[in-house]
Formats: sequence, structure tokens, C-alpha cells
Amino acid sequence: MAGNKTLGRAKKAKNDEFYTQFADIEREVNAYLAYAPNVFRDKTVLLPCDDPEWSNFTRYFAQNFTALGLRRLVSTGYAIESKRRKGLLPGLFTDEDSADPAATHGKIFVLDRDSDGNGIVDIDDLEWRWLDGDGDFRSEEVRKLRDEADVIITNPPFSMFSEFVAWIMEAGKRFLVIGNMNAVSYSALFPHIRDNRIWLGATGGDTDMVFGVPDGAAVAPADREKAARMGYVGNYTRLGNSCWFTNLDHGQRHEPMRLMTMAENIRHSRHKDVRGHEYARYENYDAVEVPYVDAIPGDFEGVMGVPRSFLLRYNPEQFEIVGIAEGESGKELGLSPVPKALKKENRSLRDGQLYFFVDGRPVKPYARILIRKRKEGNT
Ligand SMILES: C[S@@+](CC[C@H](N)C(=O)[O-])C[C@H]1O[C@@H](n2cnc3c(N)ncnc32)[C@H](O)[C@@H]1O
Repeated sequence: MAGNKTLGRAKKAKNDEFYTQFADIEREVNAYLAYAPNVFRDKTVLLPCDDPEWSNFTRYFAQNFTALGLRRLVSTGYAIESKRRKGLLPGLFTDEDSADPAATHGKIFVLDRDSDGNGIVDIDDLEWRWLDGDGDFRSEEVRKLRDEADVIITNPPFSMFSEFVAWIMEAGKRFLVIGNMNAVSYSALFPHIRDNRIWLGATGGDTDMVFGVPDGAAVAPADREKAARMGYVGNYTRLGNSCWFTNLDHGQRHEPMRLMTMAENIRHSRHKDVRGHEYARYENYDAVEVPYVDAIPGDFEGVMGVPRSFLLRYNPEQFEIVGIAEGESGKELGLSPVPKALKKENRSLRDGQLYFFVDGRPVKPYARILIRKRKEGNT
């Protein structure tokens, strides 16, 4: 019986166990400091969903506690049993596991005083204790820490990303979290992005980010090799579309994109499918198709469908976001349905998505965000 139970719990590790690298945290936080040097002064920073004993988030913020002028740093981790039960960590339970408090209790690390009396508050002053519960961010205990915090920073479990962001937004907190670029189209997230309550961070997004993984985690050999070529040898993987989501301001989002006019693009674009062609118009929405961010025509006054990576360069003083043509959000835009005959011709066409014609054939663009130039004084 016990054997069956144990085997039943031994699940394959999911991809939620990805550990962020110090250099990525430092690079991103520097962008906020460059824009507002006192952004963290006198603030309580909470790092939930962490592994505070060795997390680079805890290490970065503890090492820089004094330089950032923090009031309090709180970091919480999730109990091992909860991780195994959810299949986040490989391995089986043993009796020793369940006798160990680490199996059932999360940890909390707090830094707010010079506990070793050496005259400086730093990483050596971190004090820890077991949490009453397993450290689940949805628990009363961690919720209370959230409510007491000014800024919430972490790389949350990706499979719970929408829920995690909603958890922050319902408390009205400032935050900085790592996610996947695909999340911009989630119905729980996109309205916040459209209305400038959430935006992308200053780094990552179009470059590989390396993450540590637990012993025994399945990593595709190509990803392991790519991470190794980037200097991370061993239990590492890389993701090409990880990015930061935040509501902290940074300078990059106030830099206007320098763009050619439509005529200049048609004449000089480096993209063969833009140079010498008219911009296509969607058949089911009044907007033009712009296949590359650097082909956005700076003089076009109407709505444009642009790649999702536009958000990495989005300046809300220059453009406004009208919508996204995916799933429920696409339906909200009122796109007219795709005729049956066209769906037959191109089986990837679905209602609620944009399409246009290329050489007489219907084509669906890859994930597009609809934007238009912001009218002066209308921010
Ligand atoms: C993507 S990892 C990131 C860990 C760490 N923040 C970092 O960046 O290195 C997400 C972590 O959240 C933990 N986790 C999963 N579900 C959780 C939950 N419901 N509450 C709190 N933590 C959770 C996972 O076990 C994992 O350690």
C-alpha cells in the first residue's frame, strides 16, 4: 500500500522549477535605479516563491540592502513536500522526508537589522524561521506578508502566472516578476497591459535567459548546450522568450522609437517582404499588417497590427494599444468571422483572428497587437 502511494506521488518534474541568475536580476534592477535612484528607499521588498537559502533574488537584495536603502527584506520559500506533491521536484517521499519540517513547512528569511552587530546590515544578518504553513503564496500567512510589502519581486511558477499576477494586482502593489512573453495575450493580463497598468521590463525578452534547474530535471540537450555556451555549465537551461513584467517605471519605456515613414519603409526597408510592397490590410479589421517592429511606419495614423515584441519597445507617450487579436480579446475587437471557404483553404484560420491576402491566398499573421500613434496631449 505504502509503496503504491509513494509511486503515485512520484511525478515527473514540471518546468516551474527554474532558478533565476544573479546577473539577470542585477541588470534589470539597475534599469529602475538608473531611472529613479531611490525607487527602493525605505521600502519593504517581498520575494515570494523563492528558495531563500540560495536564491539569487535573496542574495541580490540582501547584498544590496544598504545601497538600495531598504527598510525590510522578506523572502519566503515553498516546502519540499508541496513541491514533490505537485510534481515540481523529481523524487519520491521517504519517511525521513515527512519527519523533516522542511518537508511540510516553507521558510521565511527576514533582513531588517544588524543582527551580528558588525555595523552594517547585509546578507550575514538574514534571520530565518519555519513558516506555519508550506509557503504557498495563496496562504493567509504569505498574503499578510504581501499586504505589508511595498514591492513584490520574484520569478513565480510559470504555470500559475496569471493567478500570481492577479494576487499582486488585487493588493495594489508595485512589482517586478519574470514571465513568458506569451503571457501578454492571457485574458487576465492583456487588459492591464493595454491600459498601462503593467508593462514589460527593461531587459530580456528578445535574448536568451539562463535558468538553473534541479538535479535530475529533464532539459533538452540543445538548451543545456546553449546555456553552457553562455557560460552556465551543468544544471542549466535557457529560454528564448522570458521577460520581466512590472509596474515600476524605467527609462526605456519613455524612449521614442525612431521610425521611417511608410514610403521610406517601402523604399528602403531591410526586409524583402516590406521593401517594394504596399502594406497589407486585414480583411476583417480596419488596420494594416506590419510584420516587423522596425517596419512600423511612423507617419501612419490608423491602426496597425504589430508583432508582440513591440511591447519591448513600447513607449506609451508615442503609441496606444488598441487590442490584441487572439482568443477572447480578438472577439472583443469585433473581428468579422472568417468565411468557411477560406478556413478550408487555410486550416490555421479561426474566428477572432486577423487575416489578410498574400497573392490571393488567405494568411493569418502570427500573434499581433493592435496599436496606433498616440494623438498629442492624449496620454
Ligand atoms: C520559477 S521558480 C523560481 C524560484 C526563484 N524565485 C528563482 O527565481 O530562482 C518558482 C518557484 O515557486 C515555487 N512554487 C510553486 N508553486 C508555488 C506556490 N503555490 N506558492 C509558492 N511557491 C510556489 C516552485 O517550487 C519554485 O521554487
